[in-house]
Amino acid sequence: MNSLLTVENVSKSFPAGGPPWRRRNAVALDRVSLTLERGQTLGLVGESGSGKSTLGRCILDLTAPSEGVITFDGKELSTMSRADRSTFRRRVQPVFQDPYGSLDPRWPIGRSVRESLDSFRIGTPLTRERRVLDLFDRVGLSTTLVDRLPTTLSGGQRQRVSIAAALASEPELIVADEPVSALDMSVQAQILNLFMDLQHDLHVACIFISHDLGVVEHISNEVAVLYHGVIVENGETEQVMNRPGHDYTRALIGAIPRPK
Ligand SMILES: Nc1ncnc2c1ncn2[C@@H]1O[C@H](COP(=O)(O)OP(=O)(O)O)[C@@H](O)[C@H]1O
Ligand SMILES: [Mg+2]
Repeated sequence: MNSLLTVENVSKSFPAGGPPWRRRNAVALDRVSLTLERGQTLGLVGESGSGKSTLGRCILDLTAPSEGVITFDGKELSTMSRADRSTFRRRVQPVFQDPYGSLDPRWPIGRSVRESLDSFRIGTPLTRERRVLDLFDRVGLSTTLVDRLPTTLSGGQRQRVSIAAALASEPELIVADEPVSALDMSVQAQILNLFMDLQHDLHVACIFISHDLGVVEHISNEVAVLYHGVIVENGETEQVMNRPGHDYTRALIGAIPRPK
């Protein structure tokens, strides 16, 4: 069987902006390769500016690589037909750091989740009502909150809503870009637990992006370390944590806050 996702020699550079005397292409990704199997979670770590979001956006087909090939379930993203692309949108869902960006502030949160079901034509209009409530349950949100506006929720609750919206289409892959970075430590732990439950119960594969190796180590089967657009280390989480092969990985491990 195909791997769920393959990234082969993907590079991405951005045309230079800024003042003319500094103008040259910025290389965000430099020949990145990785593979993700069904139901697995890959933690993608690296400091700010290392290219994590750019890689996430390439995998989500929100931006095209400058070079290289990405395939999802054997299909190359760059050559997908319209129909393939719409199926891809259903099968691969994003979760972002700031749910304000993905939730319409004017809409009750139930409607935002409902919108995902409508747009992918999942179920019938009648069963969708029920499904919204099931999704609220699934992510640990009280169904009494369906009519609330995003602004009246806590950051953790808002992130649960965006996870519910992502789950609506029963995706096979979630690309979560710093999904807990804006949250307090205790709330981070709750959302991480939710991601672990989803892995366990739904077997959805995940690319979990964070600048903090301590955040990804417990939920990732594998870890890839990005440094200036290059994957400097990639392997099973336990092996990377116990026997890091690169100084930069050791620095990231050293930066994890540990209770004394
Ligand atoms: N749309 C863009 N236009 C120009 N440069 C960009 C753009 N997006 C990202 N970059 C640059 O690419 C590099 C990697 O950025 P990013 O992928 O956001 O890193 P990370 O998510 O790890 O913080 C940075 O140098 C950033 O400035
Ligand atoms: Mg980023």
